Amino acid sequence: MSAPEEPGRAAFARAFDGTEASALIEAPGRVNLMGDHIDYHGLDVLPMALAQRVRLLVRARPDATVRVRNADPSHGERVFTAGPSIEPACAGDWSNYIRAAVIGLYDKVPAPVCGFDAVLESDIPIAAGLSSSSALVVAAGLAWLHANRTHIEPMSLAATLAEAERYVGTRGGGMDQAICLLAREGHAARIAFDPLRVAHVPVPDAWRFVIAFSGERAEKSGAARDVYNERASESAAAVRLLLDRLLPGSKSSHRPCAALRDLLSTIEPERLDVEAREALPPALLARFRHVASEGARVALAVEALGRADSERFGRLMDASHTSLRDDYAVSTPALDALTAFMRAEGAVGARLTGAGMGGCAVGLCIGDAARHLIEALNTRFPRTGAAPNARLPFRCMATPAHGARITVF
Ligand code: GLA
Repeated sequence: MSAPEEPGRAAFARAFDGTEASALIEAPGRVNLMGDHIDYHGLDVLPMALAQRVRLLVRARPDATVRVRNADPSHGERVFTAGPSIEPACAGDWSNYIRAAVIGLYDKVPAPVCGFDAVLESDIPIAAGLSSSSALVVAAGLAWLHANRTHIEPMSLAATLAEAERYVGTRGGGMDQAICLLAREGHAARIAFDPLRVAHVPVPDAWRFVIAFSGERAEKSGAARDVYNERASESAAAVRLLLDRLLPGSKSSHRPCAALRDLLSTIEPERLDVEAREALPPALLARFRHVASEGARVALAVEALGRADSERFGRLMDASHTSLRDDYAVSTPALDALTAFMRAEGAVGARLTGAGMGGCAVGLCIGDAARHLIEALNTRFPRTGAAPNARLPFRCMATPAHGARITVF
């Protein structure tokens, strides 16, 4: 399929000695609507893909060099040699997400491998909780497969790339890569793990999700990474203690995610509460309470979405924010103020989205209330800064978009 109007193709030719790109890869960001900090415990989540996306124009090389030029000149160009292990660039460098994808998929393509030349553009705000980094991992993974004429079915690719992204040092779950690859236009997706499964749920026509940046960056490869990993290990410790108490000697030590799902689906909530209070010290109790309650909210949110019950969905969003703030301690005063402002200005519910510790909040509005909210944000919400590559400040009406695509020229 040809796309002669593709504006970046001329830039690609200029960047790489007149050669033409052979494909355009697009990989969307995402907003998570319900279920944060539970994918790494194997519990379901409910994100949707955004229209904002990473775009990579790409062409295979005859050798193993990977050369990516960022269309934003301030980010320059990165070059490395593909191999089964690749030295990381300094912490926080954007090329680490590309290196992660290449290492993760290195042995999935036939030898001798081909690297690629690429020009990268993105309109997903960086460090804003909208998964710009996983979109880059997915785009780079698809570029590597394109260069090496290999196809991997999206479910299995999502699982491989989730694992691969841990190269950057964040012990993430699999939500971001899955929604990036498997999203369907007009739908949110209930994603289940181990094995990965996706159920697409239509978003009612009148529902509008408004996203706004809090003004505080949440660097996935910086300070936010340390808090993220700390929360992941605290809640894993809480889950382990509780499983040891309630399911001693079972599969819980080998497959804690499966054991946790079994436990949550069988035990009475009142009994779980009593057992958790007896088994866990206060800090771990709070972390566990978030994991268990957020898991339950995802199921309720999917039901509310299916019935177009926005009031119920909104209340669940509010409860989720409270839990992320009080029990999981990943909100910030700016996110709290932003979600409160969204509610006061017409959202039926609002929560931080993604890993928190800065980044964005999402609010649900019905019909014209969304325009009012965006107008109010633009005129009356204090402007505390902007994501580095976003218009200042970043606010948008999110449209549930399709997943990653490759157009071969
Ligand atoms: C990051 C991770 C995801 C998920 C969210 C929080 O985006 O990449 O796997 O854990 O944080 O829900």
